[in-house]
Amino acid sequence: MKRIRKAVIPVAGMGTRFLPATKSIPKEMLTIVDRPTIQYIVEEVVASGVDAVVLITSEGKSAIENHFDYNFQLDTVLRQKNKRALRDELTTISNLIDIVSVRQKEPLGLGHAIWMARNVIGDEPFLVLLGDDLVRSKKPCCRQMIDLYNQVKESIVAIQRVPMDQTFQYGIVEGMETEFDRTYKVKRMVEKPAPGTSDSDMAIIGRYLLMPEIFDFLGTTTPGHGGEIQLTDALLALSNRRGMYAYEFEGKRYDAGDKLGYLKAIVDIGLEHPTLGGPLREHLNSICSSKDCC
Ligand code: G1P
Repeated sequence: MKRIRKAVIPVAGMGTRFLPATKSIPKEMLTIVDRPTIQYIVEEVVASGVDAVVLITSEGKSAIENHFDYNFQLDTVLRQKNKRALRDELTTISNLIDIVSVRQKEPLGLGHAIWMARNVIGDEPFLVLLGDDLVRSKKPCCRQMIDLYNQVKESIVAIQRVPMDQTFQYGIVEGMETEFDRTYKVKRMVEKPAPGTSDSDMAIIGRYLLMPEIFDFLGTTTPGHGGEIQLTDALLALSNRRGMYAYEFEGKRYDAGDKLGYLKAIVDIGLEHPTLGGPLREHLNSICSSKDCC
């Protein structure tokens, strides 16, 4: 069985949900406490034991590649100023993992973005992480999925239960329980179902472990929901050819591509920060105990 060595992270999107903040900077570079969102995603990949990241990029996204690169000028200035700890931190980031970039030349949808990775991935199973979905957990979400893959040896989509009135915002999976903990055999999948058309509350979140056959389907998938080539449509086709599992991951997920989800991530991660956590908690307590707080 082939080891999971590569993770694809599509970052080509325009970030319209976050305008005007994302007019001239990639949404993946918006800061959560002290690092850009994309760093949390890449750190999850690294902590899951994967060797390389494939970024699917577009014009205007070079700040992401630069963030993980070595910056000679900056390093020289920090050395002259004797900023040892900062230099070490930046060196750690630039040595995190090998990163390869592929351009998605047209915004044709998530399925098309993943298809762009086909020549870099080749004939091996791989991970996909969506940058909007931040997952905090003891064992990294991707590691949980790799451990399950070692048992089921098939594709896996990570899911979480969502209120029924929110299912139209997600890819929804219908499936049956299996002998594996928190794991369902996929029967049907639909991208952003209209209310009342699916009675499942199992929503796909942005973590996938895919067999390379997915590329056969992505190459022939026609535009679906929103006129875009949808990954979910290709997944359904793949699940019909060979097995696919839905895994209810352990941990907490934030929709960091949504303004409120992003704020929640900042507060929760801020509260856990070694030096900022205490003062932030005091501040929040003082707001909550003041008369102005509702
Ligand atoms: C994408 C997927 C969808 C999934 C969601 C999770 O949609 O197409 O199936 O449920 O990510 O965040 P998007 O949010 O990019 O529209």
